[in-house]
Amino acid sequence: MTIYKDLAPSQRTIMTPGPVEVDPRVLRAMSYPILGQFDPEFTALMNETMEMLRALFQTNNQWCYPIDGTSRSGIEAVLVSVIQPGDKVLVPIYGRFGHLLVEISERCGAEVVTLEKEWGTVFDPGEIIGAIRREQPHIVAMVHGETSTGCLQPFGGIGAACREADALLIVDAVATIGGVPVQTDAWQLDAVIGGTQKCLSVPAGMAPVTYNERVEAKVLRRKTIERGLRDKDAESVHGLTVRSNYFDLGMLQDYWSPKRLNHHTEATSMLYALREGVRLVLQEGLEARFARHRRHEAALLAGLTAMGLTLYGDPGCKLPVVTCVRIPDGVDGEAVRAMLLNSFGIEIASSFGPLKGQIWRIGTMGYSCNQKNVLHVLGALEAVLIRHGVKVPAGEALQAALACYERSLD
Ligand SMILES: Cc1ncc(COP(=O)(O)O)c(C=O)c1O
Repeated sequence: MTIYKDLAPSQRTIMTPGPVEVDPRVLRAMSYPILGQFDPEFTALMNETMEMLRALFQTNNQWCYPIDGTSRSGIEAVLVSVIQPGDKVLVPIYGRFGHLLVEISERCGAEVVTLEKEWGTVFDPGEIIGAIRREQPHIVAMVHGETSTGCLQPFGGIGAACREADALLIVDAVATIGGVPVQTDAWQLDAVIGGTQKCLSVPAGMAPVTYNERVEAKVLRRKTIERGLRDKDAESVHGLTVRSNYFDLGMLQDYWSPKRLNHHTEATSMLYALREGVRLVLQEGLEARFARHRRHEAALLAGLTAMGLTLYGDPGCKLPVVTCVRIPDGVDGEAVRAMLLNSFGIEIASSFGPLKGQIWRIGTMGYSCNQKNVLHVLGALEAVLIRHGVKVPAGEALQAALACYERSLD
């Protein structure tokens, strides 16, 4: 019989767009004893988590709770619950995760209309507003921060245009929540999906979502019509029923409401982790946390440019928590990443689709976003690039980053 060794994962410096390093306080929370899911002590923790999520999403929405599963489970829960087959869904795409919204919407039976922007750029909000007025969709689904390209989409006026057209605005804020402002109510976002494993620094496995009464009304309408029709007209019921039990927001909110109607078995340890992760975000303060992410991004950018590297993407729409760097000509990007990992214990990310082999993506997210990590990655990257024959002005990157840190203290 094979004898398997004790589990002993290496201590890494994780500078990717997720998953990132987890705060030890979150890891400790995950090791606490299990409580039953209807134990009043546990339901009190569920209520506190909802309360804290409202502050995180900057909303007064009643519904703010996690879906059990990775971030795409949150996206899928919102889309499958809201899209009735035949609904028109407008998806502005400016990177890989826009395509995910299309993929899921199509599986939900939507008529999908897309707008596409060259990768590395974002839409002027006016272009999306024009498309909303032209297409009159039932739903607009879009990404706030594209980890595939390191770009941040501004929302100016898009929420108001959706209200005007009576469309629901659903936003993937998986990469931005907890690292970059996400103002659910002020921007008139109807549903927002966050991610745990990025700026919240909680392991992957839950997806906090929030949605307002406009979304709830549609979800409940489907439920009521479905019940009324069940016996009379099987065909119509088929079109209206949310085609998922696990991801039906109508059922999930009954479970998260004081009714506590049984649905799934809650992922107890993940709930502890999420509660602790969000508690730490609020303890730090949202504004202070956003400023911390900007400070370390600035030092990283100063170091990379001093090294002579070229950044990818339009700097006017750069996502503060993901920095994309062009791989210098003639350099094997994967060999560099492997050496960073094997010799320095540092992980940076490669890229997808048209950018494969073209750029590296460096995350500065959550617990990983700190001075030690930024200096560590700059020093190591410089050394590895020199090993790979790149002419790098030795020592300049760290000096530039250190100077940037000194200036940020003034
Ligand atoms: C912007 C964005 N949306 C959605 C996802 C999907 O998240 P998950 O892999 O947790 O399901 C990711 C993951 O990297 C992402 O970056």
